[in-house]
Parts: sequence; C-alpha cells; structure tokens
Amino acid sequence: MHRVRGVVARSKGAPVTVETILVPDPGPGEALVRVQACGVCHTDLHYREGGIGDDFPYLLGHEAAGVVEAVGADVHDVAVGDFVVLNWRAVCGHCRSCKRGRPWYCFSTFNATQKMTLEDGTPLSPALGIGAFAEKTLVAAGQCTKIDPKAPPTAAGLLGCGVMAGIGAAINTAQVGRGDTVAVFGCGGVGDAAIAGARLAGARTIIAVDIDDRKLELAKQFGATHTVNSSQHDPVEYIKSVTGGNGADVCIDAVGHPAVYRQAFDARDLAGTVVLVGVPRPDMTIELPFIEVFGRGGQLKSSWYGDCLPSRDFPMLVELHQQGRLPLDRFVSETISLDAVEEAFHKMEGGEVLRSVVVL
Ligand SMILES: NC(=O)c1ccc[n+]([C@@H]2O[C@H](COP(=O)([O-])OP(=O)(O)OC[C@H]3O[C@@H](n4cnc5c(N)ncnc54)[C@H](O)[C@@H]3O)[C@@H](O)[C@H]2O)c1
Ligand SMILES: [Zn+2]
Ligand SMILES: [Zn+2]
Repeated sequence: MHRVRGVVARSKGAPVTVETILVPDPGPGEALVRVQACGVCHTDLHYREGGIGDDFPYLLGHEAAGVVEAVGADVHDVAVGDFVVLNWRAVCGHCRSCKRGRPWYCFSTFNATQKMTLEDGTPLSPALGIGAFAEKTLVAAGQCTKIDPKAPPTAAGLLGCGVMAGIGAAINTAQVGRGDTVAVFGCGGVGDAAIAGARLAGARTIIAVDIDDRKLELAKQFGATHTVNSSQHDPVEYIKSVTGGNGADVCIDAVGHPAVYRQAFDARDLAGTVVLVGVPRPDMTIELPFIEVFGRGGQLKSSWYGDCLPSRDFPMLVELHQQGRLPLDRFVSETISLDAVEEAFHKMEGGEVLRSVVVL
C-alpha cells in the first residue's frame, strides 16, 4: 500500500482538494505508475461539475506520463522502469468491437480492479479509469503505452487524452486528406490538436473558429491558415467566403455546444463531414432541418478519443514530435504543482491557457 497525495473532487461543484490517498500494490494484470506529469483537461472539470457521473469522490487527472514502478502477475507488455503514457481506452481484444476488427470502438472498460481509497477507506473513482493527479496511480497494465523515454513527460502525457482526441478527430475520424479544407470550432487543447492533425494530414485550408482572440493567435501556431472570431463575425459566412463559397470539407466541433454544432453543420460543403469531439452536457439537445441532413449528404460523426489505438498512435506521434513535425510542447502553457489544479480550472475557463500541466 502506498500513501501519496492526490487531487480529489469530493462533491458536485465543490473546489477540488489535495488529499492523502492510499494506492494498493498491483494485483494480476495491473501496474503501479509513478506519475511525472499530468495535464489539466476540460473533462476533469466536467467530472468536478457532475457532468460525467455521480460517483463522487473522484480522483481527477488523466493526461499523464510516468514510469512503471511495479507490475502484478500476468503482466507481459510493460515492465518496471518503462516510460509510459496512460491511456483511458485500452484495447481489450475480446468485446464485440474488438472481435469485429474495430478495436478503436472498444466498448470494454479495462481498468484496475482494485480500488484506490481515501485514508478512511472511502473508494475513489479515478477519472476515466486513470486518476493521475497523484504521485502514484494504479491502472490496468494495458492502460500503459510504452514510448521513447527521451520524450518530455509534460508534452508526452497530453497524448493520453486531449491532444490524441483532437489529432485523431482530424486524421482518424474525419480522415482529412491532402488538399482538404477544414474548419475547427473551439481552439483549446483539443481544437488546436485537431488543427495540428489536419496540417499533418495535408489540409490546404485550416480555419480556426473561437470566441477568444488569444486562442485564435495560438491556433495559428498549430497550423491555422485563417481565423475567425465567432462572437464578432458569422463563422459560417466566413468559412464559405474562404472556401470558394462552398463550405469546408471537414468541420470539427471541439466545443460540444448545440449552437456550435449547428455552425459546423451549416459551414460544411456538400458531402462533407462533421465531427463532434467536444463533450455536450447531458441536458443538451439539438434541432436540425431534417431535409438538410439528407440534402447535404456526407457524414455526421462523433469521435471518442480520436478513434485512436494507443499502441499504434502514441509512439508514432512522439516520433513526429521528435522530428519537429508536431509541436507537442506548445500545448504546455504552464507547469504547476498538485495544489494548483483548482486555480488551473479557473485559468482554463478564463481562456488563459491551452494546458496547465501538473509536474510531480
Ligand atoms: N471526444 C473525446 O474523446 C474528448 C477527449 C478530451 C476532451 N474532450 C472534450 O473536448 C472539449 C474541448 O476540450 P479542451 O480541453 O480543448 O477545452 P478548452 O476549455 O481548453 O477549450 C475550449 C475552447 O472553446 C472555445 N469556445 C467556447 N465556446 C465557444 C463557442 N461558442 N464558439 C467557439 N469557440 C468556443 C473556448 O474559447 C476555448 O478556446 C471539451 O468538451 C472536452 O470535454 C473530448
Ligand atoms: Zn474491446
Ligand atoms: Zn481529457
């Protein structure tokens, strides 16, 4: 049993607190990871606000890199000392999606079976089955993806969620191709990653849409060729104006708001693709002109975790980073301590950062 510090959301809407938590030694199929860095993602805030579930207390944090400190029985793919990025959807190999050869839709939750707890024994629900705003965390060994140990943990950890979700929304879900026109709505960590992914895939025009000019400036660094502030200008008109009047081949909603989704729907070219990667609140609904859903053809898709395969995609993206083709380190706006996560939520809401990254 390991006694470490971790960031806990005790009840809906309450500020998070740093608590002493108890982490069991790994059982069969499990790994204990000494966390080196963990990014603050909007999904952690969704958890704190009760938007994902009601299984409080949550141990937050899920965009992490670290070193394997111990493994349980029957663990073959990772070993003590490996440098790993944690993933929240390990491919199980047994569920109906895996069996049909579509492992990126893996439906199983493949997490550690033993529980981390508060000091009084109260079981913690780790965010996305990870819980990495903690000095050590316990995960299923399959949640550890080995990468090059020379990669910086601060940037590499971000592949564990938001950056992978964004890049994957562009390259895996939307399948952006060479010469495509792409519009990305919401230029936080996820949206900027979608922009970087669209550039990697060879998009010709990449239009960044946000309501905050600071975010639009940052978006240019990831490859946006055009920007539009949608609180001042109609983004649909603007996107049409820079795509020959047609709209974009691919529109990615990285906000998860019905009004933004409608803009993405309307700004898309005929037979184009809309990808929803932002996470809506459970009470939200959308209304669309049904004839347009038919008449515009194409695809309306959602992207879970960028339809990624961690073991295929994380090492590949680290390599692209090391070759200078993917600016992973630009997502890191600041490094902070465990005590500053609540403050980091406010900075995220205030639009001050792309990613605050906890360094341990
Ligand atoms: N699908 C997945 O697997 C997955 C994975 C990680 C995160 N997410 C979700 O992606 C979303 C974005 O996450 P993030 O970490 O980048 O958040 P973030 O808060 O860093 O970024 C959100 C951005 O959207 C902008 N924005 C807000 N309202 C807008 C509007 N009406 N029009 C245009 N832009 C607007 C903000 O200014 C900000 O730049 C969240 O909903 C998060 O939960 C999904
Ligand atoms: Zn599966
Ligand atoms: Zn996340």
